[in-house]
Amino acid sequence: MRMQGKNVIVTGGASGIGLASVERCLEEGASVVIADIAGSDGEARAAALDDKHAGRCLFKACDVTDSAQVDRLFEDTVAELGSVDAVFNNAGIGGICPTDELSDEEYLRIIDINLNGVFRVARAALRVMYRQGSGSIVNCASILGVFGQSQTAAYTAAKGGVVNLTRTLAIEAAPKGVRVNAIGPGYIDTPLLADLDDELLQGLIRLHPLGRLGRPQEVANAFLFLAGDEASFTTGTTLMVDGGFTAGKS
Ligand SMILES: NC(=O)c1ccc[n+]([C@@H]2O[C@H](COP(=O)([O-])OP(=O)(O)OC[C@H]3O[C@@H](n4cnc5c(N)ncnc54)[C@H](O)[C@@H]3O)[C@@H](O)[C@H]2O)c1
Repeated sequence: MRMQGKNVIVTGGASGIGLASVERCLEEGASVVIADIAGSDGEARAAALDDKHAGRCLFKACDVTDSAQVDRLFEDTVAELGSVDAVFNNAGIGGICPTDELSDEEYLRIIDINLNGVFRVARAALRVMYRQGSGSIVNCASILGVFGQSQTAAYTAAKGGVVNLTRTLAIEAAPKGVRVNAIGPGYIDTPLLADLDDELLQGLIRLHPLGRLGRPQEVANAFLFLAGDEASFTTGTTLMVDGGFTAGKS
């Protein structure tokens, strides 16, 4: 039981990579808060997982674009569970649009969820973890945090920001006993890819030397490593979970 007795918050925990991470943490003995927007599947998922895992899973509605909701998520979790030992700062949305057609509104929406949301959650986590003198924050970046890709201006700008924000937070938090890392998934088989047509998807799959999409559980396993004590000397890094996508072109 690698996460026995740990309390974990997973933003965007109702679906895809977040949900797989919730499940892996529960299997490894943690108590887990699914934090996701009101109206998501989070409440139902948490109820089912709570039954399966002896009362160790709960849902808290939280929109990461709202600082007050994010701060309340952490206050309520500490009040109920006593601590926050690890956070997966995972909530995010996709977005494909030619840049010359991208509206201010859509650009800012993607940045607000995928970058500003990561900042808000990390800030709230640091406040709690500094008091504790310990904790691990894992931010969800992407291969598109270190590589460009046509028609993803807002998404790549946000994910690039997450990679470097992670470095800065890691340096700042290290003296207080808190580690901050990121994960850079390749294309992972989740509802985020639902809008991609098959031809585009097959082309994207070919960019991964392992020749397939990743599975959400494969990212969850990386989160488990970075969140827990096995990664006690790892901070400021972005761990790519990408089937070799960022290794090179041939
Ligand atoms: N699937 C991929 O190929 C892939 C690749 C690289 C990175 N990622 C990143 O992984 C993370 C998870 O993506 P996924 O593929 O599991 O997607 P997903 O759509 O399955 O899950 C995303 C979750 O985030 C939640 N969410 C969206 N906006 C939110 C908000 N404002 N506040 C709180 N929660 C919100 C959604 O309700 C959903 O439950 C994202 O940050 C995404 O950018 C995904």
